[in-house]
Amino acid sequence: RTIRMEVARFRPGEDDAPVMQGYDVPVLPDWAVLDGLNHIKDRLDGSLSYRWSCRMGVCGSCGMTVNGEPRLTCGTFLTEYGEGPVRIEPLKGFPVIRDLVVDIDGFLAKLSSVRPWLIRQGEEPPLTAEYAQTPEQLEAYKQYSMCINCLLCYSACPVYVLDPDFLGPAAIALAQRYNLDSRDMGDRFDVLSQDDAVWGCTFVGECTKVCPKHVDPAEAIQRYKLTAALRSVLPWSRR
Ligand code: FES
Repeated sequence: RTIRMEVARFRPGEDDAPVMQGYDVPVLPDWAVLDGLNHIKDRLDGSLSYRWSCRMGVCGSCGMTVNGEPRLTCGTFLTEYGEGPVRIEPLKGFPVIRDLVVDIDGFLAKLSSVRPWLIRQGEEPPLTAEYAQTPEQLEAYKQYSMCINCLLCYSACPVYVLDPDFLGPAAIALAQRYNLDSRDMGDRFDVLSQDDAVWGCTFVGECTKVCPKHVDPAEAIQRYKLTAALRSVLPWSRR
């Protein structure tokens, strides 16, 4: 059998607005939405543009809006949508470059802004020491290290969609990945404590709901709110 896929087509600068274009694609039991898009690209319309790479939920590049919800298209089966249609649009909240491809430069700048590396003090390269951790120390931040930067959390976040300057779920979870690492000696308070950072979050929790890796960015944000509040009364507290 086949299912109807309605796909957003848009070339900014050439088209006035996106239009939905319909394609009938086969439904195989193991076909994901991404397989449907690949079928369109390979057999029906080579001009369709979208991102993907690993096809196994690791690279984070295939996020799109599927029937109104942000989803990884490689991890979403066509059979979920019954008789169809399946509507595929770019992730909400990001400028469209072409068809289903969005501009992620702003997102990458946010990731960089939280200084996502281990900050050490009083050491000069080359660093030869090993910094062993206990399983408990690893567990403290491991959850936040599972993020694949798929952007689904931003697309689901009502704060980000209204305010593109909001630092957002993945960047704050990434900061916590380092804040909670026993090897890190850094301080990201200057970035995280801004109105457009943790205090901008209204704790709707959609970011956590859509995360395919169960990172729980909403928890990361609420947790840092507590850290920041403590910091205002105990300036020497760091985490
Ligand atoms: Fe890599 Fe979907 S193609 S996560």
